[in-house]
Amino acid sequence: MTQPFGDYQLEIYFNALNGRVSDHPMDYATLERRALAALDPSLLSYIAGGAGDEATQRRNAEAFALWGVVPRMLVGAVDRDLSVTAWGHTFPTPVFMAPVGVVGLVTPDRHGDIAVAQAAAATGVPAVLSTLMQDPLEDVIPHAGETPSFFQLYTPKDRDLAASLVERAARAGYRGIVVTLDTWIPGWRPRDLASGNFPQLRGHALRNYTSDPVFRKLTGASEDPQVIVSTWARIFGNPLTWADLEWLRSLTDLPLILKGIGHPDDARRALDAGVDGIYCSNHGGRQANGGLSALELLPEVVAACDGRVPVLFDSGVRSGSDVIKALGLGATMVGIGRPYVYGLAVGGVPGLIHLLRMFLAEADLLMAVNGYPDVAEVRRNMRRAS
Ligand code: FNR
Repeated sequence: MTQPFGDYQLEIYFNALNGRVSDHPMDYATLERRALAALDPSLLSYIAGGAGDEATQRRNAEAFALWGVVPRMLVGAVDRDLSVTAWGHTFPTPVFMAPVGVVGLVTPDRHGDIAVAQAAAATGVPAVLSTLMQDPLEDVIPHAGETPSFFQLYTPKDRDLAASLVERAARAGYRGIVVTLDTWIPGWRPRDLASGNFPQLRGHALRNYTSDPVFRKLTGASEDPQVIVSTWARIFGNPLTWADLEWLRSLTDLPLILKGIGHPDDARRALDAGVDGIYCSNHGGRQANGGLSALELLPEVVAACDGRVPVLFDSGVRSGSDVIKALGLGATMVGIGRPYVYGLAVGGVPGLIHLLRMFLAEADLLMAVNGYPDVAEVRRNMRRAS
């Protein structure tokens, strides 16, 4: 049985009784407003923006209103189980932090990846850490303590570099490799284009490359930022095809999870190729505009997986009740993206921990009030709004 996450509200009320009213935001709209005011404009456009006119990005969040949960009474759901067992771990929470490159830049000390790992250690919420870090992956993971962490791979064109990154992640203690498929080329992002801003091309978040022996061979061990950035730009995105999957699989015995899956046929084909997890996501609408929301794609992806592997989900999750709805539609675990970056930007590690506890508390209290002792009961009581 997990700890009652909902007790967080008592902590907040009792602290206030003792004269300590929380200054953390208690809802997403307030958090977003404060983050937009706090972030440097160049970072803001990169984090808040998306592809095209951002219709898909908006639809991701709005789609949660298409479904609702039906309350059940006289259940007395005093004990509620939100824990998840996957890949040999029991996670106390069904929530994880999605990989966000350049989160390293969000803290004033520019060690935001480490801040994310610290919040994972403090809350038990696992982090999927991006290839695009400000610190080498080996320096980040110790901060996650006992909470299992995952490494997200942007597969480079150079196969030896890909193998080196995966091998380093395994050696450092990451518990799985999440391969992102939808970003071998950046989508059309008007906000970034308008300001000409792309952080990696300014040399940011490339520490996993500059600390890598294979990458250093490619640059001739040059310390010249221009050489580093141009080498990175040349090798960053590998347009993988199904023919590459066997090679990717051969790189590791760790759980291999494919991120960016939205079509049930792709999910089935990936499973047949031996992957260990499917991650349904449209990258928060940052890559391809014009699509359905990720939530609308989730049920068919879940059906295609048929319980064979865990199904991760992200894109558009903005509250604890969104978490419950994604679980209700079949996700095994639910990823938070921009909201946790905003939590970190506004309040540092305590702000990020608060954000995670806030989502978990709201999710847990929704289950309590609605009489759901577990996720199976949520699933029995999901309805599509008419
Ligand atoms: C991302 N995302 C992402 N995904 C990934 O696989 N590797 C990465 O490095 C990044 N980087 C990244 C940067 C920023 C600024 C954002 C906002 C997102 C996508 C991320 O993992 C996730 O899919 C989305 O953030 C989910 O959508 P929401 O919740 O942000 O709307």
